[in-house]
Formats: sequence, structure tokens, C-alpha cells
Amino acid sequence: MQLKEQLIELRERALSTLEKINDTKSLEEIRVAFLGKKGELTSVLKQMGKLSAEERPVMGALANEIREKFEVLYTEKNAKLKQAELLARIESEKIDITLPSRGRPLGNRHPLNIVLDELKEIFVSMGYNMVYGPEVEKTEYVFDLLNTPEGHPARDEGDTFYIDDSTILRTQTSSVQIRTMQDAVKNAKLPLAIISPGRVYRCDEADATHSPIFHQCEGLVIDEGLTFANLKGTLEIFFKRLYGDDIKLRFRPHQFPYTEPSAEVDLSCFKCSGKGCRFCKGEGWIEMLGCGMVHPKVLQNCGVDSQKYTGFAFGMGIERITLMRYEIDDMRFLYENDLRFLRQF
Ligand code: DAH
Repeated sequence: MQLKEQLIELRERALSTLEKINDTKSLEEIRVAFLGKKGELTSVLKQMGKLSAEERPVMGALANEIREKFEVLYTEKNAKLKQAELLARIESEKIDITLPSRGRPLGNRHPLNIVLDELKEIFVSMGYNMVYGPEVEKTEYVFDLLNTPEGHPARDEGDTFYIDDSTILRTQTSSVQIRTMQDAVKNAKLPLAIISPGRVYRCDEADATHSPIFHQCEGLVIDEGLTFANLKGTLEIFFKRLYGDDIKLRFRPHQFPYTEPSAEVDLSCFKCSGKGCRFCKGEGWIEMLGCGMVHPKVLQNCGVDSQKYTGFAFGMGIERITLMRYEIDDMRFLYENDLRFLRQF
């Protein structure tokens, strides 16, 4: 074939192929196949050497015209295809911002924590400080210094979890009293008023009102001239703020080794307001806490001048307070992690 025919044939084929192209990738392939270093136009042009001096500029002009034509069409097509591809991509990546979100499930606080927070708030508003003590504790702090000598029923191994002979999972938060008084004497921090909430451990079988792990909140106030009236007034204010003004307190004489005198405090039953029902076992009252005036021996054990200072202390079960606060009649609900129960708070 003559070079001219070859060029014309190439032009027709190139332009009609270009016409049909629908994506930028094939467009680029065509460009390389036609104009590239090893492309068809390039290889036709390599034959120019064989032409005569007259023919050469004519064929050169034709070849240039073909290249320009191709390039113009290529540029147009490229722009068009790029635009179309961009639109297609935007379309496929579109986010419908009017769709409702999937939502993020939020938990809520455990009833024990809700009650504990209320309790803290009330005592802190009365000027009490918060302190925490260790759960793995020396028996000295849990018993001896609290005037509970060896042989006392509260020390019975069957009732407690021993780590070794002198270390125990604390059975009561009262151990914090000792740590607090020792620290106050050492650092001249008397008078003092603290509460100390935390976990305690006992060898109880779990039933509706018992659990081997439960929570207490200890309270301790040491100052000059404190009497039982201060203790009574404090507890009345606390429980009325927590349960409302209608609640009644009953102080019953009791015995604790670390207080003298000692008392147990009952609250009028939340279910029957004192008439007697299943929940209070017909009593009309529910036992809530132990308390008393700090025994002078305990003050002395910690280096507190018992001639100058007196104090009162109390220890309450947070589970009991929570059950009563929400009228729950089985303590086990608090530990079972049943969401149907927990979501109600
Ligand atoms: N520790 C006692 C108990 O676990 C409660 C208690 C009674 C705490 C009298 C006190 C107190 O601080 O003075 O049952």
C-alpha cells in the first residue's frame, strides 16, 4: 500500500475507534497504540525515508494533520469521559444524610452506685471528707485495735476469708476508723469527720438478704464535746434527706466492741410504713445500721487523747439502703446483671 493510503486508512480507523471509546482507560490505550513511540502513526512515519524529496513534505503535512486531528478529538473525549466518571463516582459514594443514625446504646449507672452517690453528696454537704481503705487488711485493723480481742465471735475463722494468719479480706469498713485516726494523730488533723464506703467480705451463703461480698459505708466523727445527741441528729438528717421526712428512726441498745454505748438503728418499713408486712417480716421496722460512741480504748489505741476528744461512728450496709430506696425485695437482683432489672434505674 502507498504511504498515503496507509495514512488515510490509519486516520479513519483511529478516529472511528476513538468515537466508540467509553472509558478513560481504553482511551489511553488507544492513544498509546496510535501516537506512542511504538505506535502505528510513528511506525508509518518511519517509512518517510523511502520517499522522494517532493513527496516527503506532503506526507509530513498529512501526518501532522492526522496527529492534530486525533489530539483534538482525544482531548475533548478525555475531558468528557473524566467528567462522566467523576459524576458516576460522586453518585456511587453519595451518603444520605437524612437517614436516621444507628444510635449508640448507652448504659446507665448501677442502683448501688446511684445510692452511693446520693449518700456521698449528703455527707459531703455536711462537711464530711471521703476516705478509702484497703479491702485486703491486717487483722490488727479489722479486729485488735477495734477492741475485738482474739476469741471474739467476730474473729471466728468460719466467718471470714483469711489470706494468712494476720491478713484478711475485711469483714467491715470499721478498719478504716483505725487508719483514719492514726493518720489524724500523726498529721495533726483532729477534729475529723469522714465517711468511707467500700466492699466487705463474709462467709455468707447468698440469699434474699445476704451476699458474701457486699458494700458498707463507715462514718467517723471525732471532736471535743460530741455526745450521742450529735450521732442521733446526724443520722436523722441523713435518712430524712435520703428517704423523705416521713421516715422514722428507732435506736435499739446493742453491743459492739468498738463503741460504748452502742445501738442498732431501724427505719420504719418503706412498704407498710410501720404496720408490718412480708418485707419487714411483720415488724414494721427494718434494721439499717450499727453505731455508737467510739470506745475510749479505741481512741487510745490510735493515740487520740480520750480525755479531750469524744467521737461517734456508724456503719451502714449500702445494699440494704438501696433495696429500701427502690423497694426491691431481693438483694440478688443487684448482682445478677439482668438488663431488664438494671435498665429500670
Ligand atoms: N461494723 C459493724 C458491722 O459490720 C457496723 C458498725 C457498728 C460500724 C457500730 C460502726 C459502729 O462504726 O460504731 O455490722
